Amino acid sequence: MEVYADYAATTPVKEEVIDKMTAVYQQHFGNPSSIHSVGRNARKYLDDARRQIAKGLGAKTSEVIFTSGATESNNTAIKGIAYANKHRGNHLITSKVEHHSVLHVFEQLEREGFDVTYLDVDNEGLIKLDQLEAAMTEETILVSIMFVNNEVGTVQPMYDIDAIVSKSNALFHVDAVQAVGHLEIDFHDFDIDTMSITAHKFGGPKGIGAFIVKDGTTINFPQLGGEQEKKRRAGTENVPQIVGFAEALKLANEHRDANNVHLMNLKNLFLVSLQERSVPFEYNGSMTDSTGHVVNLYFPFIDVETMLTLLDLSNIYVSSGSACTAGTTTASHVLVAMYGDEDRANHSVRFSFNEQMTEQEIKYITTEIHKIYHKFKEEN
Ligand SMILES: Cc1ncc(COP(=O)(O)O)c(C=O)c1O
Repeated sequence: MEVYADYAATTPVKEEVIDKMTAVYQQHFGNPSSIHSVGRNARKYLDDARRQIAKGLGAKTSEVIFTSGATESNNTAIKGIAYANKHRGNHLITSKVEHHSVLHVFEQLEREGFDVTYLDVDNEGLIKLDQLEAAMTEETILVSIMFVNNEVGTVQPMYDIDAIVSKSNALFHVDAVQAVGHLEIDFHDFDIDTMSITAHKFGGPKGIGAFIVKDGTTINFPQLGGEQEKKRRAGTENVPQIVGFAEALKLANEHRDANNVHLMNLKNLFLVSLQERSVPFEYNGSMTDSTGHVVNLYFPFIDVETMLTLLDLSNIYVSSGSACTAGTTTASHVLVAMYGDEDRANHSVRFSFNEQMTEQEIKYITTEIHKIYHKFKEEN
């Protein structure tokens, strides 16, 4: 058996998405900025996809800017807000468990002279609301907090965070990459200013995402060139991928409830099955404030690299944390922030599921982990 359980890193592109994209590649290849009918035809596909994506996220069409993915969206949001609002203040707030496409940008801004507060998290990966409230000052111009953590699946209390940020003049950016398909995302209901998403985490193609910017937000856009995306992101739009992105989002939203039930069942089955086999493990994160698609476990008997290698030999493909840190020996910054313990981080594995996974696949993973545990017990 072969089991891919690294869906938080990326997902396969859905058949329906490939079909929609193929039609655009083959028949509607025009440049949407061209004024002839081939261009106008491509423009129609672009406009329809933008409408569909805006609707799926509770945003206006004017607020959707297509980008190459969430890394670009996060970079644009954080730098764009910081530079455009510098005259109002020098203070920025984020958390210690953000994706590197957020954290590394804040680190650079810090080197440039901005004052950055990195909020702590508790053992479940939740930020501390009182610490956020205490950190806010007259100088705070940006708060950037992720919706769902990519390594442990913890869901931050967005409404509570928003209530605190709304009392100030700071802008609020949300990296919502891992929330799509798992939680309802209503951009205006949250009252956030900017948001990042990326298609490849929910059955869409890689290299396409969106940056959602509330109308009227004071922000700089770095990319100069043509007048695409209302002069906010120059470059010919990738219409086939944008159409695929729209279809993937539609499917993710339509099947969200049923998928969540399935994912929660898989998660429970996984944990119960490991317990029944008496494999020692501890759960990293929150059992209540989390999505079903990520399960991060601490296995005290084996280091993560050995575990990943042995699972790979059993044709089970998982990850040690975010894909960007996989393959390196650096302890996960998320687990270190949660437990203050590099050793725990170096013995933890992220399993991530999607709706296509079956109970047999989950049982296969637990059977193989059980074998690995016994091998280690006998050898030591
Ligand atoms: C929470 C989070 N933010 C941002 C990203 C970056 O997204 P992209 O691959 O589209 O650049 C990822 C992808 O790993 C992610 O999980």
